[in-house]
Amino acid sequence: MRPPVTEASHVGSGKVRELYALDDERLLLVASDRISTFDVVLPTEIPDKGRVLTGLSGFWFARTRDLVPNHLIALREDGRSTECRRLEMLPIECVVRGYLSGSGWKDYVATGEVCGHALPDGLVESQQLPRPIFTPATKAQTGHDENIDRATAAELIGEERFDEVEAIALALYAFAADYAHERGIILADTKLELGLDDEGRLVLGDEAFTPDSSRFWRADGYAAGATPPSFDKQFVRDYCESLGWDKTYPGPELPDDVVAGTRARYVEAFERLTGIEFDAYLADPGVVLR
Ligand SMILES: Nc1ncnc2c1ncn2[C@@H]1O[C@H](COP(=O)(O)OP(=O)(O)OP(=O)(O)O)[C@@H](O)[C@H]1O
Ligand SMILES: [Mg+2]
Repeated sequence: MRPPVTEASHVGSGKVRELYALDDERLLLVASDRISTFDVVLPTEIPDKGRVLTGLSGFWFARTRDLVPNHLIALREDGRSTECRRLEMLPIECVVRGYLSGSGWKDYVATGEVCGHALPDGLVESQQLPRPIFTPATKAQTGHDENIDRATAAELIGEERFDEVEAIALALYAFAADYAHERGIILADTKLELGLDDEGRLVLGDEAFTPDSSRFWRADGYAAGATPPSFDKQFVRDYCESLGWDKTYPGPELPDDVVAGTRARYVEAFERLTGIEFDAYLADPGVVLR
C-alpha cells in the first residue's frame, strides 16, 4: 500500500533548501539559513538568510513571468517556504555573465575564452563584457560545477533546447540587470535553473537573482581591475580564506561580527532591489508579489 502523501514527504536536501512533495505535481521548497562557501556548508547559520532568498526570488518571479513562466505557486506565511510546480530540471546551470569575475575571469586569464566565447584581449578583472554571454556549467552532484562550452551543453540538453535556453537566460539577465542598475546595483553575473513541465515547456525554477545565485556589486564602488564591494558571499569567503582553511569539510565557524555583517548585506540587497522594507516582508511575505 502506498503511504499517504503528506507535507512530511521529504524528498531531498540541497545545500540550502529542503524539498518536500506536497503531491505528484507540487513541491514545497524550504530555504534554510544555511550558508555554503566553496561548496561547503558552514556550521554557522545566517539568521533570516532563507527568508531573503525566498522573498527576492518571489519578487523576481512575479516580475519576469511574461518573459518565461516560472514554478512559483505561492509563498507561505513563514517567508521561507515556496509552493511550486515540480519540474524535471535540466542537467545544466544556466549562467549569464555581464562582467568578468569569478570562474569566468579565471578561465579568461588561462585561455582568453569563457565557455567557448572568444573575448577581446586585454580585459581586466571585473570589466564589463562587450555584451552579456551565456556560460553554462555542469550540475555536479558532488564537488564543483564545471564551465562547459556550447557543444558540451548541447549534448546534455539538445541543440534546439540549447538555443531556447540561451535566449531565455539572456533575456532574464537583461531584465534583472537593468532593474538592478536603476537601484544602484550591478548584476555582474547570475545562475538560473530551468526545468520542463508536464508538457515539455521550459519553466524557470529554483531561486532567481538572489545574493546566493548572483554577484551583486554596488554601482558606486565599482571600478574595473579590482573586486568591487558586493552583496553576496564574498564577505564570508574573504573571512574563510583569511583563516587559511583548505576548503574541505568541516568548514569554519563564523564569529558574530561576520554573521551580523553577512546578514546585513543580504537584507540590504533585498531592500535595495525590491524597494520593500525587510520587516514588511516578514509581516506579510505576499508584499513581494504585488
Ligand atoms: N520546481 C522544481 N522542481 C524540481 N526541483 C527543483 C525545483 N526548483 C528547484 N529544484 C531543485 O531543488 C534543489 C534546491 O536545493 P538547493 O538550492 O539547496 O540545492 P544546491 O545545493 O544549490 O544544489 P544541489 O541540489 O546540487 O545540492 C536543487 O537541486 C534544484 O535543482
Ligand atoms: Mg541551489
